[in-house]
Formats: sequence, C-alpha cells, structure tokens
Amino acid sequence: MSTATVSDFHAAMTSAGGPLLGDVEFQFLRDFVYKQCGIALSEQKRQLVQGRLLRRLRALGLKDFAGYCEVLRRDPEGELGELASAISTNVTSFFREMHHYDLLVGELLPRWLEAKKHGGRLRIWSAGCATGEEPYALAMVLAEALERTGSKVDARILATDLSPQALEHARGGVYTLERMGGISDERRRRWFLRGEGRYEGAACVHPRLRELVTIQPLNLLHDWPMHGPFDAIFCRNVVIYFDKPTKQRLFDRYAGLLEPGGYLFLGHSESMYGLSDSFELVGRTVYKKKVS
Ligand SMILES: C[S@@+](CC[C@H](N)C(=O)[O-])C[C@H]1O[C@@H](n2cnc3c(N)ncnc32)[C@H](O)[C@@H]1O
Repeated sequence: MSTATVSDFHAAMTSAGGPLLGDVEFQFLRDFVYKQCGIALSEQKRQLVQGRLLRRLRALGLKDFAGYCEVLRRDPEGELGELASAISTNVTSFFREMHHYDLLVGELLPRWLEAKKHGGRLRIWSAGCATGEEPYALAMVLAEALERTGSKVDARILATDLSPQALEHARGGVYTLERMGGISDERRRRWFLRGEGRYEGAACVHPRLRELVTIQPLNLLHDWPMHGPFDAIFCRNVVIYFDKPTKQRLFDRYAGLLEPGGYLFLGHSESMYGLSDSFELVGRTVYKKKVS
C-alpha cells in the first residue's frame, strides 16, 4: 500500500498559486535547513516556506518541490545561500540600535585607538551583515574616530553573511534615500555620493568606507577561515533563528576569536542568558569576554 499522504498528493499538483509543499519535501527541507543553517523550522512555518520558495522554483524552472529537494541534494553548498535568503529576513538599517554606536564612539573606539597607538590592529566583525547597512555604519564611526585622533592604527571591518543577494547589495553600496533614514544630514553629506541618472533617488557609500570594509560570504555554522583576534563582534538579529545548542556553540566560537576583554553585541531581542560562561553582560545586549 502506498504510504503517500494527502499532502504528498497535493504537492505533486500545480494550482493557480503554484506547487504545494508536501510532507516528505517539507521534512527534507527542515532537516537540511537545521543541519546547514541552525534554523529550526516548526510545522507552522510550512505555508511561509512554501510561499517564499515559489519564486526560487520559478527562477530554477522547477515544477515542484521534489525537484527543488533534488537540487539541494546535488549541490547543497551552491543552493544553501539562496534557500537561507528565502526563508530568513535580511531586514536591517543604518545605525540600528543606536546605543551600541554611542558606546563605540563615546568609550570603546577612543580606548582602543589609544591602546594601539604604538602598533597593533583594530578588528571588528559584522557577522550576519545582511545588505551592508551595519558594517558601513560601523565604518562611518570608525573613520570619524581615526580622523578625530589622527590615528594611523591598522583598522578594518569584516562583514560576512550567508545570503548571496544580500552580499551583492552590500558590495554595491548603493542605498535608496528611504533606507538612509537613520543617518544624520551631516553624515549623509560626508559619507555618501548622490546618485545620478539611473541612480537618481539613491546614494552610494564613500570610497573611504569601502576601503575599511571587507565583504565575504560565510555560513556561521561552517568552518571560519579567519583567526582573529577581534576587538568586537556584532552579531545582531541573527541568532534569533537558531536553537539553543547552535547558539551555545556559536558563542563559544566567538569567545575563541575575541581579544580578552573584547565585546560581543547582540540584537535587541537576543540574550546570552544561560548560554555561555565566557562573557559578562556590560550594557544593553552588550557582552564582554571575561579575562581569565
Ligand atoms: C535580520 S538580518 C540582521 C542584519 C544586521 N546584523 C542587523 O542587525 O541589522 C539577519 C542576517 O543573518 C543572516 N544569517 C542567518 N543565518 C546565517 C548563518 N547561518 N550564517 C551567516 N549568516 C546568517 C541572514 O542572511 C541575514 O542577512
């Protein structure tokens, strides 16, 4: 007797809204996404996943989700970024959670630049940088601090994400004026070039910011090519999708890459409570690596 369920039957059919996501394929996607991205998809997410992946199916010329699962089996690495982009959100903004930037400008950058004035490197990692607003905002405050102090410290920002579309946007460095709401007029004038022609209504980040930011693809669950140490890691609004063991492993690895006394910044709804002994809470969603 066939073990196919009603949902499997529906999955094979195409309706006006496109193919349906059946039990077998949804279970495959859940296992795949959990193993590769640390994201635990509940049964309630089935409709959402189905809706969000339809465009991807069309782009690949596939008629059903079984075909899409086959693509993932054949080329897991190649398709992972697209899948992750479809099911997670890239929502971000310039100077989101301004209190983190206030801490950097008022306390951390002056302290680091003073401590490193006779040599040493200053490194900040924007892990889960989405479309680039976070690393470029960090680059603005870093460039201003370097200018203000006349410092010649070797300072750089690493920006990584899993989503190929988000990284392409970040590399382009072009933002519509609506997306620049969080930036003061003074900073807009200083750090953006007004778009013309087909870029009318948009602005492009200043070359000095590009110089400070290195953009790379990276899945936080996979091996990391860099060795650190970092003075600060911004991993904001990323771990919200991860389950507890995935967060624990990630925070341990961050502790391994941070300088003793280095800082980890999380998003407004994220916490390290009960997940790691390597950090102490020193501000609103700001953690400091303990000096052992
Ligand atoms: C909501 S955005 C946060 C952007 C920015 N950090 C902020 O707070 O505004 C979350 C980003 O995390 C990325 N992401 C999710 N899981 C990831 C993983 N396993 N490895 C790397 N990036 C991941 C997504 O692609 C997305 O761009």
